[in-house]
Amino acid sequence: MAKNYYITTPIYYPSAKPHMGHAYSSIVADFFARFKSIDGFKVYFLTGTDEHGLKIQRSAEKNNKDPKVFCDEISKTFKDLTKILNLSNTDFIRTTEERHITSVQNLWNILKKNKQIYLSKYSGWYSVSDEAFYNDDEIEEKEGLKVSKSSGSSVEWVEEESFFFKLSKWEKSLLEFYENNKDFIRPKSRRNEVISFVKRGLKDLSVSRKSFSWGIKVPNDDNHVVYVWLDALTNYLSSLNYPDENNKLYKSFWPADLHIIGKDILRFHAVYWPAFLLAANITPPKKVYGHGWILSGDEKMSKSKGNILDPIEIIKVYGLDPLRYYLLKEVSFGNDGSISETKLESCINSDLANNFGNLCQRVISFAEKNCSSLIPDHSFNDDDLKILNSLSNVDKIRTMIDNQDINQYMNFIIDRLFASNKYFNDQEPWKRKNDKLRLSTIVYTALELIRKISILLYPVMPQTILKVFRAFNIDEKQINISSLKNNDFFKEKDKINKLDILFKKIEND
Ligand code: MSP
Repeated sequence: MAKNYYITTPIYYPSAKPHMGHAYSSIVADFFARFKSIDGFKVYFLTGTDEHGLKIQRSAEKNNKDPKVFCDEISKTFKDLTKILNLSNTDFIRTTEERHITSVQNLWNILKKNKQIYLSKYSGWYSVSDEAFYNDDEIEEKEGLKVSKSSGSSVEWVEEESFFFKLSKWEKSLLEFYENNKDFIRPKSRRNEVISFVKRGLKDLSVSRKSFSWGIKVPNDDNHVVYVWLDALTNYLSSLNYPDENNKLYKSFWPADLHIIGKDILRFHAVYWPAFLLAANITPPKKVYGHGWILSGDEKMSKSKGNILDPIEIIKVYGLDPLRYYLLKEVSFGNDGSISETKLESCINSDLANNFGNLCQRVISFAEKNCSSLIPDHSFNDDDLKILNSLSNVDKIRTMIDNQDINQYMNFIIDRLFASNKYFNDQEPWKRKNDKLRLSTIVYTALELIRKISILLYPVMPQTILKVFRAFNIDEKQINISSLKNNDFFKEKDKINKLDILFKKIEND
């Protein structure tokens, strides 16, 4: 029976233009989703938009639009982006949908019933840009403005009646939970960060706002709207038809296997989210991975800083798959990274065109000329088996993925690409025209190497790899990680089709 895997991206605040940072979160999550689906898992991959709160209300006002109309328009740009990025998402959730509102109100009622929520008054700092409450010691003054030390965004003083969640009560349970679930927060540095934050002591958390109305109404108290983070985090349950805990989706996919998030929203996912869930007797997710930021210069790329790089523009010039490849290979996963067109061009020319593209083109055209475009016969020697088996260790590859070690995975592929090109050069099949079986075995081996490397590259560059597989009449459903173990996948005399151009080299003056 297929195992299940539930992976999520954060749901995005609908801002006018999605930027490279958003694209990065989504591409990374898609990479894991696609790997798991070709590894025999039934994958549920969720993304969407986070549409409530003061930030959105103010943006809508600025644009002279009703917030719902504003969200309908802008959410669509993010939905369109899922197509542009070729995401394999199962669902796209919007927090203004009825199914989500029901789910949030239900969670609220349970927290209330479990005596986790009480009415009081909030006086303190609030950042609209982060939609976060900050303590005095988390604030500093910059150029006469009060700003959050962690995000740099400006804060405003808020005093209003508010419902509170008894977060302080969960301090000990959270620390125990982290201790018993060592993998819950990744990478390790972020786990340490969260543990120290919790150890410094947790205050009860304000979970409703009264001074504006754009949000989900608190059940039985229409004057309050649910705090946008309690609202937003619940999307991970709503998509699975929560509160109907007996339905198939919820039963099959909760708890989530992996929440991919940026490091700026770690506290919400690694502290508040498990606390809400534990307080509602719901099992927390298995893992939260906080990746770094895509920088512009040495600052976080963000709309408020006006330094965004538009993924759609980059895709228009260079294509989607080279961008996916670049982000997965060049950004050290977990750390901050930047995108430079020079480095992107060098990835396209060296790794993609010269290394991978070249291997595919030369082997397939050699097979065309010397094997009549048919899969040839084979009888492996030790050299052939050695290189083929170096791509057979499925467990090692699965471990890289389960540890989210994207860079190790990419380096492994690049290393095997070099080795495969070297194999074809060193074996010199063009000099074996008098030894038909040896010539065909070298071609067969090289084709198997292309097939195996292509399987590994499928989660990185799905469109390109489908082109390669078209040459072998392999369709998407047949791509399978387990078949890396197989050295004799191709059947003798099967047709090899012409290969479409995979990458265009960038010629600069
Ligand atoms: N709406 C919240 C998430 C709620 S999840 C229950 C949010 N939205 S966001 O649009 O501001 O950010 C969405 C994701 O994009 C976050 O993971 C965030 O870290 C990521 N990024 C936003 N800017 C980024 C970069 N410059 N670089 C990399 N990722 C960044 O937060």
